[in-house]
Amino acid sequence: MRLKHFISTKQFANKSDVETFFKETAVVEKRARERLQNTPLSGKILASLFYEPSTRTRFSFEAAMMKLGGGVISTENAAQFSSAAKGETLEDTVRVVGGFADAIVLRHPEEGASGRAARVACVPVVSAGDGAGEHPTQALLDAYTIYKRFGRIDNLSIAFMGDLLYGRTVHSLIYLLPLWRGMRFYCISPTQLGLPKIYREHLAASGTPFKELSSLAQCSKEIDVLYVTRIQTERFTSEKTNAIIKNSYRVDTEVLADMKKDLLLMHPLPRLDEISQEVDDDPRAGYFVQAENGLYIRMALLLSILEEKTNVTWRY
Ligand code: NCD
Repeated sequence: MRLKHFISTKQFANKSDVETFFKETAVVEKRARERLQNTPLSGKILASLFYEPSTRTRFSFEAAMMKLGGGVISTENAAQFSSAAKGETLEDTVRVVGGFADAIVLRHPEEGASGRAARVACVPVVSAGDGAGEHPTQALLDAYTIYKRFGRIDNLSIAFMGDLLYGRTVHSLIYLLPLWRGMRFYCISPTQLGLPKIYREHLAASGTPFKELSSLAQCSKEIDVLYVTRIQTERFTSEKTNAIIKNSYRVDTEVLADMKKDLLLMHPLPRLDEISQEVDDDPRAGYFVQAENGLYIRMALLLSILEEKTNVTWRY
């Protein structure tokens, strides 16, 4: 049987596969909200191997597994507390951990690490972020949030604002969202932190109109979704660029006043000062609901990769 690894949103070939997955997620969400006892993954084990810090992603994966009746083995900081600290390769660790678990969720600072892990693993590998590469499950929960809010994804205008160079959640969204029709993209960042060429080329090849802008004011009245990202200071050396962004890419009530009444304001979190806390009570602020959706998406994902009862095609 082919293993259902999930390391890139490029694995989805069309929107109907993603929408099938959203429908399965909606069923899982409803059952979870009704607190129906549901333990289909009883006896299965998820290993969470996180070589970088995480709050939402790791906790939601682990909670998802436990809510489905499965167990979790985990190291809080794999770089320090796994044999990586003794010099073991990622490949060897993954081979060994795969012997103890039914699936591995991996976060690693190197781009491409999830692909390397998937090549040697004997159980499904799910990427929880690989350096400045991708963060595919975050993109799924982001798209699910948009889908639930608007009832569609087609024909929406979305602006990505902040660190588009290192922001891996945006990279995975750029592979995912053009599967729907009529999307328009705006990329707002200082030139030093612009979208890498491969993602610009992907947008061009998919026929998605996109514009690179230097300020939100240039598109604020026309967008349906504003997706703000944190400056990825851990991947970043220039204090000067850091300061430029901090001052010019901030959303507060004054900025929001200029935007659509049904805008969806998103952020993968953690936020620093890109979105002022005064905005949290505005009905357009969607980032906490977005984070909660991560639980349901990851429950549906674990079910889909560990059980045969799914209509989703996991291409790898
Ligand atoms: C993101 C990540 O780790 O890439 N966080 C997350 O998983 N929700 C975004 C970030 O760290 O800025």
